[in-house]
Amino acid sequence: KRLAVFVSGGGSNFRSIHEATAAGGKASSGDVVALVTDKPGCGGAEYARRSGIPVVLFPRSKSAPEGVPTAQLLNALRDLRVDFVLLAGYLKLIPSELVQAYPRSVLNIHPSLLPAFGGKGYYGLKVHKAVIASGARYSGPTVHFVDEQFDTGRTLAQRVVPVLADDTPEQLAARVLHEEHHVYVEAVAALCEDRIVWREDGVPLIRTQT
Ligand code: GRF
Repeated sequence: KRLAVFVSGGGSNFRSIHEATAAGGKASSGDVVALVTDKPGCGGAEYARRSGIPVVLFPRSKSAPEGVPTAQLLNALRDLRVDFVLLAGYLKLIPSELVQAYPRSVLNIHPSLLPAFGGKGYYGLKVHKAVIASGARYSGPTVHFVDEQFDTGRTLAQRVVPVLADDTPEQLAARVLHEEHHVYVEAVAALCEDRIVWREDGVPLIRTQT
């Protein structure tokens, strides 16, 4: 299956997904065919260029006048025959046209156990600061399908990590990020191998490999 990954930052999730799609990797039925970014200089975009993955700049803005408008992004994804869209630290809300063009085919990863600590304003270290301030004893990443708002689509997979008594937000972030790499790769493998079943009430479940 052909994947487009959307990134605004360092791109460690993008990198782990790309590595897992290599021969013998855990998601080898996936193929990363495009990197979409609103930040052409970000670590994710640099990695894509080094790896020969086409980079699409989106959206067009004052600071990115060479970015493409939504219709052109959709055309580019269609030309590249993209099956699934993966958001991996892409900080902008994606347009509803994209959500509609890829039903049940857009995933995101968020660094908390949704629905806790999600939504607009909960990004980066702010998430982990809020988790620590709340006194929660556990946190962890959530992979979810994307709808037209921030962090509200159906949960597909989660992992749990402890919040330790003297954690700083940075330490908790690192512990969660480590699990993100595993849980996102597993979710992407399930997506590419057609192992996601939708329960009648709309909950997506991953069928384990047999
Ligand atoms: C991750 O913490 C992810 O949960 C959030 O943005 C961060 C991206 O990290 N959505 P990276 O760019 O993949 O390293």
